[in-house]
Amino acid sequence: MAAHKVICWECGAEVDDMFVNLCPRCGGLLTVKMDLTKVQEMKPQDLRKEPLGVWRYAPFMPVDPAHKVSILEGGTPLYPVKALSETIGVKEAYVKFEGLNPTGSFKDRGMTMGVSHAKELGAKVVGCASTGNTSASLAAYASKAGIKCAVFLPSGKVAMGKLAQALFFGAKVLSIDGNFDDALALARKMADERKLYLLNSINPYRPEGQKSVLFEIMDQLDYNIPDRIILPVGNAANIWAVYKALQELKEVGWIDKVPMLTGIQAEGSAPIAKAFAAKRHDFDAELNPETIATAIRIGNPVSGKKALHAIYDTRGFATTVTDAEIIAAQSMLGKKEGVCVEPASAASVAGLKKLRDEGVIDRDERVVCICTGNGLKDPDTIINNSPAPIPCANSVAAVEDILARD
Ligand code: F0G
Repeated sequence: MAAHKVICWECGAEVDDMFVNLCPRCGGLLTVKMDLTKVQEMKPQDLRKEPLGVWRYAPFMPVDPAHKVSILEGGTPLYPVKALSETIGVKEAYVKFEGLNPTGSFKDRGMTMGVSHAKELGAKVVGCASTGNTSASLAAYASKAGIKCAVFLPSGKVAMGKLAQALFFGAKVLSIDGNFDDALALARKMADERKLYLLNSINPYRPEGQKSVLFEIMDQLDYNIPDRIILPVGNAANIWAVYKALQELKEVGWIDKVPMLTGIQAEGSAPIAKAFAAKRHDFDAELNPETIATAIRIGNPVSGKKALHAIYDTRGFATTVTDAEIIAAQSMLGKKEGVCVEPASAASVAGLKKLRDEGVIDRDERVVCICTGNGLKDPDTIINNSPAPIPCANSVAAVEDILARD
């Protein structure tokens, strides 16, 4: 395990109590400060003895790999998407497809770290609020670790595949009367009363695992740093995790510049994009967020301030896309590249198209879109936005007739 401490991101105080989620002194957000002195003597190639995946980057992680609870997370493909780049009009675009993680989303990167740490601490019950993916992931890793698990879901607004996963892995699935922000408030209350160990991304160990998506992108591009990385923003921890990974690579001298981090939100659920448009470093919570991309239907993002810092400090950008733009981008990825992502993930590609059309993104840029989750998580949205199956008689002639149509 690399030496590290948990500190307050806002006042810098060191935090010893591993069961608190905010700074006991000032109420600020927490973060992990890694001691990277040993990594300073290493090169990226030294890590390549380990397979591509979260634990290849153990020297940047705060949990001893000997204690890891793993289902072989990470190691996802980075697709060069030529047809998509040509259609959108950008020189070089890639899709990092996080839907190929064990439970089908990037959350597994954070959960392997978070649940490993929970086990180190001897936690008896773990829990999280979720729009779906976090709960699916926590339920799987809690099973693997043999720890009891409770997930708090906004009633009626979780995609079917995600709900099925949480039920399948045997979590106590609680359907809360309210939206994600309400469910999170309840889960946090339980954690504050020490009735469960909270594994939402406010837990600073979660983003530590999520840093690995950036380390992998750099490895896969052979440290040819892209100009821009685009990702959907919901509770806002993932963009922060990518930023933190970039800062750490700079600290050890493996990179000397950073990509512009660009966050995309759904139009009906956009506190961070609105704050960015107003050049603010803080944001106003939205009371009734709404979007077809239920994964990012979040009005009060816990890591919102960290996300805004990540965007400003990398000279990045934030914007919104409409539900129609999200569905069009999801379909374009399927039809042109054979990749099936869930709506929230398609927001990154919708954002690339919009910002290219508006001239914010230059034609000459090399861009990576992080597509955070698998399309099979949310089959209802795909079926509702696709043509119906074609009734067909049981004969060759009937099939030929249908194939002859446009
Ligand atoms: N994409 C997908 C598929 C997600 O599930 C989420 C968040 C995000 C993007 C946004 O990431 O919150 O770090 O900004 N899903 C959480 C959940 C909230 O409960 O599964 P973020």
